[in-house]
Amino acid sequence: MSEKEILKKLEKILYPGLDRSIVDLKVVENIRLLEGKTVVTLSMQNDEAFEALSRKIKEALGDDVKIERKGAQKRKDINYGHTSAPNNRAPYAKRVIAVTSGKGGVGKSTVSVNLSVALAQEGYKVGLLDADVYGPNIPRMVGTAHEKLQWNENDKIVPSENFGIKIMSVGLTTPSSDTPLVWRSSVAVSALIQFLEDVEWGELDFLVIDMPPGTGDIQLTMAQELPITAAVLVTTPQPVALDDVSRAIMMFKDINVPIGGLVENMSFFIAPDTKKRYDIFGKGGGEEIAKRYDIPLLGQIPLDMGVREFSDEGTPPVAMGDKLQKGYYKSIAKKLLERVL
Ligand SMILES: Nc1ncnc2c1ncn2[C@@H]1O[C@H](COP(=O)(O)OP(=O)(O)OP(=O)(O)O)[C@@H](O)[C@H]1O
Ligand SMILES: [Mg+2]
Repeated sequence: MSEKEILKKLEKILYPGLDRSIVDLKVVENIRLLEGKTVVTLSMQNDEAFEALSRKIKEALGDDVKIERKGAQKRKDINYGHTSAPNNRAPYAKRVIAVTSGKGGVGKSTVSVNLSVALAQEGYKVGLLDADVYGPNIPRMVGTAHEKLQWNENDKIVPSENFGIKIMSVGLTTPSSDTPLVWRSSVAVSALIQFLEDVEWGELDFLVIDMPPGTGDIQLTMAQELPITAAVLVTTPQPVALDDVSRAIMMFKDINVPIGGLVENMSFFIAPDTKKRYDIFGKGGGEEIAKRYDIPLLGQIPLDMGVREFSDEGTPPVAMGDKLQKGYYKSIAKKLLERVL
């Protein structure tokens, strides 16, 4: 087989969980023919994905192919389809922050809302896009769940506004907040692209995106369609969440999305009556992950009943909470600003 034929076969192999070829994603670093043997070098961090890809490559090229591995490069010149850079569907936004996690329910939406409001409190113009099309919680958390979609005279969607930020969510398009969406993922992706292009966001200093949990289609589409300035990863300290967030970190490194830092949520609990500290989900996990992947730990937020209550009432704790609750999110915003300004 010639190098060209090998490349053709590799082009058909998709990165696990993503609808993109490993050649496009520049995961294939090099192909060599050495003494009649094919040597393929992959540049990637994700152990599980490496195992899975090795199997697929052997299926495609035969068992005697040699597969070598190198860590992901710092900045790769990835082929995003038509261009060598991500598209920019949001030229009106100076910076795009994607709030994401490996596991569900760890507090992404809460962090997205309060980080957005904290940035607005610092004087920045902020838009918050709820990209969790199957579980759009943002409208409830910012108190706009009763609102319905509106268009202006230019046929643009008018975002809702509260607490100094502009907000757009699929939740505003359904008859009621608990209407389930049964969209195929391609439809979900088009809806999000429409929210990027057809919403009257105005000029933004920050577009914050609240991602659905996991590492799938929507995450990848956002990375292709937007130049993400920084991904903020949210985790809780227990081992299963840390495993999932490691996977997400490695995926972002493999697809070249810069990581702004890690937020450890529900880090500990201080009993309101005795003031005793309980490490409900374990201790030190966030710090360890931050060290392991060399990413900053932006903050540790305790499990705080007030955070849950304020969020459910549509009044973000960073705006309406006590000094301590405001502080959790303000300090995360400050640390992030140091990274991205
Ligand atoms: N630090 C905290 N203390 C107490 N409750 C919290 C805290 N952070 C989040 N919560 C609550 O935990 C629940 C889940 O949080 P949230 O919806 O932000 O998670 P998520 O990661 O966005 O979930 P999903 O994966 O479903 O989108 C919510 O009820 C929220 O109010
Ligand atoms: Mg959420």
